[in-house]
Amino acid sequence: MRPTPRLTRIATLLSVAALSVTTLAACGGGGEAAPAGQSGGGGGSDKLTMGFAQVGAESGWRTANTKSIQESASSAGVDLKFSDAQQKQENQIKAIRTYIQQKVDVIAFSPVVETGWDTVLLEAKRANIPVILTDRSVDSTDTTLYKTFLGSDFVAEGKKAGDWLVKDSEGKSEVDVAELQGTTGAAPAIDRKEGFAEAIKAAPQIKVVASQTGDFTRSGGKQVMEAFLKSNPDIDVVYAHNDDMALGAIEAIEAAGKKPGKDIEIISVDAVKDGMTALSEGKINYIVECNPLLGPQLMDLAKKVKAGEEVPQRVVTEETTFTQDEAKKALPDRKY
Ligand code: AHR
Repeated sequence: MRPTPRLTRIATLLSVAALSVTTLAACGGGGEAAPAGQSGGGGGSDKLTMGFAQVGAESGWRTANTKSIQESASSAGVDLKFSDAQQKQENQIKAIRTYIQQKVDVIAFSPVVETGWDTVLLEAKRANIPVILTDRSVDSTDTTLYKTFLGSDFVAEGKKAGDWLVKDSEGKSEVDVAELQGTTGAAPAIDRKEGFAEAIKAAPQIKVVASQTGDFTRSGGKQVMEAFLKSNPDIDVVYAHNDDMALGAIEAIEAAGKKPGKDIEIISVDAVKDGMTALSEGKINYIVECNPLLGPQLMDLAKKVKAGEEVPQRVVTEETTFTQDEAKKALPDRKY
């Protein structure tokens, strides 16, 4: 078991508090032109300036997450400088260094992978710029390098997926699972794998017979599933670490003349509209929700951090799960 931040997460779950909107005057910063590949105006002196380094635009979840952050910044009066790292850690590090040079008030980012952040986080700390992790965490043992981590409990998500399969597999003698992993080294890929593996220990007839990354993208899911179907023609279940890869797998399964949701069951994570639609149509069997609407909480946290107020070291997002019937009911009101 890796030492942190998982242990930190568990330890700090207890300190999770409901966040309330705090209105306060925030110090300004930035004000310089946005660098190439980045958007956002220069900060006025009376506005809080946030530099946000996004992972990319790899999935429907990410698109909804970006929209939530941009809209919330605008309604909270936060001057947002936004960059898209196109799933590359070096681009995120570059963006964070630019935000440090621009002297923004707060830096927030969703780390593409867990490792390799200590140097740049130390640079931010030395420049006296607080950092908020959103969505994904880092493996830094020095937790003073960031103020708080706002996002889902990915291990719990994987566990929920595995628990459903354990129940669904009752009375079956053999259940062969193909796993479509998220981006290698990313916290949700590591944790969802771990949580699922933990849960299926309760049912020895469930075996993960193939497991490979599809990089959280639809095309990645399709490509890997095509290869799985050739190497493992008897796959019973697909466990996809996100909806986009599950949707790609559906295309591959249908192209191979099989029925997704029937011949091969599919479990996924996210619950974005496209995933929920496939679930309601019977092509996916179960989805564990991962909530991308982190913008409002992020803006509240940023204002508190800037004001020097105490914030919990860990803020866990509330999430649910969906069966096919529940998806049919939830779809009309689904926001993303
Ligand atoms: O970090 C959250 C994950 O990243 C979402 O589950 C996935 O869709 C996204 O790419």
